[in-house]
Amino acid sequence: MTIAVAVAHPNVALAKYWGKRPRPGNFPAVPSLSVTLDGLSTRTRVAFEPDLDDDAIAIGGAPASTEDRARIVAILDRVRRASGRRTRARVESSNDFPTASGLASSASGHAALALAATSAAGLDWPEERVSDLARRGSASAARSVFGGFVELLAGADDGAEDDLLAARAVAPRDQLDAVVLVFVVTEEKKATPSREGMALTAAKSPYYRAWLDSSARTFESMCGALAARDLGRVGELTEASTLAMHAVAMSAGVMYVRGVTLDLFARVRELRSAGAAAWATSDAGPHVKVLVGTSDAPRVRAALEATPGVARVIEARPGAGARVVEAV
Ligand code: PMV
Repeated sequence: MTIAVAVAHPNVALAKYWGKRPRPGNFPAVPSLSVTLDGLSTRTRVAFEPDLDDDAIAIGGAPASTEDRARIVAILDRVRRASGRRTRARVESSNDFPTASGLASSASGHAALALAATSAAGLDWPEERVSDLARRGSASAARSVFGGFVELLAGADDGAEDDLLAARAVAPRDQLDAVVLVFVVTEEKKATPSREGMALTAAKSPYYRAWLDSSARTFESMCGALAARDLGRVGELTEASTLAMHAVAMSAGVMYVRGVTLDLFARVRELRSAGAAAWATSDAGPHVKVLVGTSDAPRVRAALEATPGVARVIEARPGAGARVVEAV
């Protein structure tokens, strides 16, 4: 097999990952829990082509940036090493949603890449190894290999670069009767990449130690609430994790929220006071995702979509994991 196409979906972290272990291999410093989303997808084709002198990588039809390219080639190199291949690869990846703006394109992108590259190279890896490979490109991508609700534990303080750390599916898609409304906001410029934002946070925030401790506790509570199918508690913890993540980042001078982000958070609180089951979250960008009970979704969407600054709304249900859709 030399060509494979894989599809993966982004995920939204309910208990956030923010911060890396100070060791090579991209190991997270905190545990995280996410839900994989349908309704948004990345499709990635990898072809190992003997005639290529170098890897040829296009994202959304354009050559990959130097930084993206380096991360993708590192994944391809690992696949070449594991499969004993020398051939260079042609990689074509596209998203059906805005890229690199805090909409988790790196999660679905690296999950689809890891799966397509290993399949094209003829490696019949279990999902666990694919997830570990995806994590090396972007830690949140380890979670997009799986569907439904997914955890990724923190890496050990030290160890070898090749130590395995994979995400794990912890609950099926229907564990909670909820959907995620994604409020895509207009954006003037690209946000600080998460890698840089995390490094600044660890180096500069006076609250980093507190974040490491509190996020581990939030994660534990959330696992219990999810197992008990307690949407209200999962929602509260999601908002708490989000605010703590942005607070620690902001205290290091890293700011992802905009006015519209905060307006949406405030509106979600008002709706909650009026009885709606809705909780807001956001990641390394200004967009807002709202976890909402299925029956409340239409009224929450109607109440929020006219907020100035909202460009469009995507409604996502808990989705499936990454899969190969074509292999030659
Ligand atoms: O995996 P990265 O490097 O794209 O970082 C993701 C960080 C957040 O999206 C903000 C949180 C998370 O757990 O997904």
